[in-house]
Amino acid sequence: PVKITTQTVVDMKRKGEKISMLTAYDFTMAQIIDQAGIEIILVGDSASNVMAGHETTVPMTLDHMIYHTSCVVRGVDRALVIADLPFMSYQVTTKEALISAGRMMKEAGAHAIKMEGGKPIINSVKKIVEAGIPVMGHLGLTPQSIYKFGTYKVRATEEQEAEELIRDAKLLEEAGCFSIVLEKIPAKLAARVTEEISIPTIGIGAGAGCDGQVLVIHDMLGLNKEFNPRFLRRYADLNTVMTDAVQNYIKDVKSKDFPNEEEQYGG
Ligand code: KIV
Ligand code: NA
Repeated sequence: PVKITTQTVVDMKRKGEKISMLTAYDFTMAQIIDQAGIEIILVGDSASNVMAGHETTVPMTLDHMIYHTSCVVRGVDRALVIADLPFMSYQVTTKEALISAGRMMKEAGAHAIKMEGGKPIINSVKKIVEAGIPVMGHLGLTPQSIYKFGTYKVRATEEQEAEELIRDAKLLEEAGCFSIVLEKIPAKLAARVTEEISIPTIGIGAGAGCDGQVLVIHDMLGLNKEFNPRFLRRYADLNTVMTDAVQNYIKDVKSKDFPNEEEQYGG
């Protein structure tokens, strides 16, 4: 298949074609999502929540992200694979940021990396892009800053934060980002940012004005029952599908229905 590149998604914005993106953290899921025809697979640090069971993305390590990313890359033939740089793998110095991004590309095989934040990370973004590693930005509700925010509520509802976000989006574009995720901000603001920059915006809880959309695969497949934000559309109820399958298996084992004659070896 013709591989999706960072240039492909930039061109899609120019042509007015919407961009689809989903997360994946392992080989099997990545293979299914890629073969279904997605443009971008994000190895999100949401792996901290959905794979590792942590409350936040803060504990995620660079080594674990490299592991998840390498698993995903092995399952993908066509999609653009972007990996999150986790908390404290890029904030301390520009040198550290470049080394982390380089490891993600060399050791894991990521095609691009994503970093949260605006002004404070601009120098690092420039260095990483100059080194040949494409960078996706991430503004609005940036979960690595949850202890600063104190809540997962909608961001940039006030004038000052909204103006800062527009400024940051422009700074990220100037620094060489090929795209920016906008998470949980008012739809109007996301639409304005999308109009004012030439690189594609990918929204999650940021409305229909964005150039593309992203969801966490576990959420959109209905694997978790408790997470019910307004922006989430569920495309399957895999929690029920899996629970039924497991319960039927238990029942069949206990009733000695499984295995039957055909399900065992003779001779
Ligand atoms: O980690 C993640 O899954 C993300 C997306 C929700 C944008 O950053
Ligand atoms: Na993330």
